[in-house]
Amino acid sequence: MTPALALPRATLVVRHALVATCDAGAHDAGLVADGAVAVADRLVAWVGPDRHLAGAVDAAGAEEIDAGGRLVTPGLVDSHTHLVFAGERAREHAARCAGASYLDVARAGGGIASTVRATAAATDGELLAGALARAERLLAQGVTTVEVKSGYGLEVEAELRLLGVVEALRHALWSRLTVVPTLLALHALPAGADRARHVARVRDELVPAAAERRLAVACDAFLEEGAFTAAECREVLSAAARAGLATHLHADQLTPGGGARLAAELGCASADHLERVDEAGVAALAAAGVVAGLLPTSTLFLRLAAFAPARRLLDAGAAVSLATNVNPGSAMSETPALTLGLACAALGLTPAEALVAFTAGGARALRRADVGRLAPGCEADLVLWGCRDLEHLPWHLGVPHALRVVKRGRTVHQAAPGAAADCA
Ligand code: NIG
Repeated sequence: MTPALALPRATLVVRHALVATCDAGAHDAGLVADGAVAVADRLVAWVGPDRHLAGAVDAAGAEEIDAGGRLVTPGLVDSHTHLVFAGERAREHAARCAGASYLDVARAGGGIASTVRATAAATDGELLAGALARAERLLAQGVTTVEVKSGYGLEVEAELRLLGVVEALRHALWSRLTVVPTLLALHALPAGADRARHVARVRDELVPAAAERRLAVACDAFLEEGAFTAAECREVLSAAARAGLATHLHADQLTPGGGARLAAELGCASADHLERVDEAGVAALAAAGVVAGLLPTSTLFLRLAAFAPARRLLDAGAAVSLATNVNPGSAMSETPALTLGLACAALGLTPAEALVAFTAGGARALRRADVGRLAPGCEADLVLWGCRDLEHLPWHLGVPHALRVVKRGRTVHQAAPGAAADCA
């Protein structure tokens, strides 16, 4: 007689949930009504209808969470943030609200340059404490993987110092929140620097040092009027790719600069912002498989004339991600719920498209196949939300709903009573 195959032993089961697997394509949240998720140690072992759970895993001895019909999704993947900085830029925001533009503020000596000065004056401990507090706020709202860029150092040593702070952040949070470090190699020209010499130092010293010391897994650049040209970004990102780093590009945000096309030419993992992308750029991203990074909080915050053409990007077949872009200049808001709501109300995504962009889409932008989906073999990162349908999240705009956050099979956050909306 053939012995019955042993069922995988579950360590955690989440039962009676509306499960969104985010593993069914860009337009489909992969909903399973009265679903269950079984976790074996740190990985997802099985997902399916609750009535099939007993035949799929051995759940004896597993911790059990009864979702009571609430929504359960993968942990959010916030694929674009600048969490490490010091200083405040509230006055420049007020000036923008009174009519100044982002570029006006930068030309007057504010903008990125002002954060660079405040960051240089802060100690590593202060920078780490600030970044930790921001990361904790994201975690409490359902983020289980976060990309963190350097970029407020500008000079070679100052950027390496900031990557050191990102590394300390990664270590401090590793069991609760995955931190993916990115070198933002070209963000602004340091005051008084010679352009060509600066770009050459970034290319020949900063990028190789960040890669060799394993301080970053990716490299980013800001292609924009008043920042860097396409030729400069191409030079530095090509060097980064040769050094084994993935590449990203801040593209077509304030002015149409051919950024999407450059990202496609270079095979970047993502091209982010895209408010001013043209049709050729949309087609190029789709054809090259570059993820279009949507950051609607910044579009709102900077009072830009138009949001990124999310529907045209999706219709063209481009993969999209959604991220908070937390930073002091264009999105001082650690609020994934607002980002998700704006993705629907301002970008015109469906709730399913927005959720997939904020999970599987972010994972793709970070080239992480192991997060952003609830599928066997993925990291068991999941969120129990205080609502019973997906449409509720963008409707209840900006309001936190994450009741419990699970990272690699362990609960790492539980909302205090009343801190997150529970519509049970
Ligand atoms: O992603 N666009 C460039 N970088 C940031 C803003 C940086 C700042 O203003 O401090 C962004 O929006």
